[in-house]
Amino acid sequence: MINIKGFYILIISCFLLFLTACSQNTDRGIEKAPSDSISENEPIDEQDTETEVEEPIREELVLPSQELQKGDQGKDILALQKALTKIGYEITSTEIYDQELVWAITDFQLQSKELLASGIYDKETSSALESLIEQELTITPGEGLKFKQDEFLDDDTVVIGNPYDVLALVNKQHALPKDYVPSDLIFPDVRFPFVEELPKKQMREVAANALEKLFADAEQENLDLYAQSGYRSYERQDVLFASYVSNHGEEEANIFSARPGESEHQSGLTMDVTSPHVNNTLVVEFGETKEGIWLEEHAPEYGFIIRYPKGKEDITGYQYEPWHLRYVGVKAATEIMERGITLEEYLDEILAN
Ligand code: DAL
Ligand code: ZN
Repeated sequence: MINIKGFYILIISCFLLFLTACSQNTDRGIEKAPSDSISENEPIDEQDTETEVEEPIREELVLPSQELQKGDQGKDILALQKALTKIGYEITSTEIYDQELVWAITDFQLQSKELLASGIYDKETSSALESLIEQELTITPGEGLKFKQDEFLDDDTVVIGNPYDVLALVNKQHALPKDYVPSDLIFPDVRFPFVEELPKKQMREVAANALEKLFADAEQENLDLYAQSGYRSYERQDVLFASYVSNHGEEEANIFSARPGESEHQSGLTMDVTSPHVNNTLVVEFGETKEGIWLEEHAPEYGFIIRYPKGKEDITGYQYEPWHLRYVGVKAATEIMERGITLEEYLDEILAN
C-alpha cells in the first residue's frame, strides 16, 4: 500500500519522465539531416550515431584563383561552372572551358558595368562573381548576350554565335553576324595621323585599354607609332570591298581585303598601325621599320598578335600584314607569337584537346 503523498510523487515523476522523453525526440528531429539511405528499422551502430549528431557537411565553393579561358580543362573549370550555376546559369559541368562557358562568362561580364567583356575568366570577373554569390544574388542569363550557337550556312561558312569572345575566330570561313556592332566601342587615347573623330578610331574597351598601354610603352622606347584604322561596320566594309573589287577584281581584292562580315575590323578588336617611316601607310615595308620590329617582339605583352604573318598566307587566306594588330589577350598572344603560329592553328589545337 502506498499513501496519498507517495502516490502523488509517483504520478509527478512519471509525468516528468514523459516530458523529458518527448523533448529529446523533438531535438533529434531538428538536428538530423534528411537521409533516404537509413531505414527506421535499421540498427544504428556507433558510427551511425556519430554521423547523426554531426552538422551536415556544406560544400565550400572555392572560385579558381588563376585566369582561365577557352580550351582550359580540369577541376577549376568545374568549380567555375558550379559557381555560375549558383547565380542562375543552366550550364553543363564538363570540366572544359567550352563555348557555353565562354558565353556565360561573356554574358555575365556584359551585365556587370565594372567588367570588361572578353569571355576570359580574369581576376575582376572572379571578384564580381564571388561578391554575387556571397550576397546570394542571381542574375538573368542572356540579358547581356543572348545565347546563340554558331550558325552553319550552305556555303561552308559559319556565322559565329559569340562575337564578344576575344578568342573568336573571324576569317573567310567564320563571319560575324551582319548586324553585330560591339556595344563597348570607345576611342583609345593613342596617336592617329588625322584629327577627325571618325568611327574607325574606335575599338572595344578591352582592346582599347591594351592599345593605350602598348602605345605609351612604345613612346618610352622613342618609337613613332600611329594608329590608322580600327572599328569598321559591316556596311563600311561592304563599300570598301566593292570598290577594291571594281579596281582589282574579286579574287585579288580578297587577298588584301575581307568580304563584309569576314573582317576582324568589324569585331572592334583590331587596329592597323603604322609609322612616319613609311609615310603612315599600310605597306609590307612597315615590318622592317623599328616600330614594326618592336611590335613583332612586344605586341603579345599587351595581348596583341600580328594576325596575318609572313609565310602563313595559306592558313589565314590573306597576304602578310605587319600592321594589322588583333587583340586576343596576353596568354593566347604570347603562345601564338612565340610559336610563330596563327590564330587558326592555336584554336585548332586548344579545341581539339
Ligand atoms: N585587311 C583585312 C584582311 C581586312 O580587310 O579585314
Ligand atoms: Zn587591318
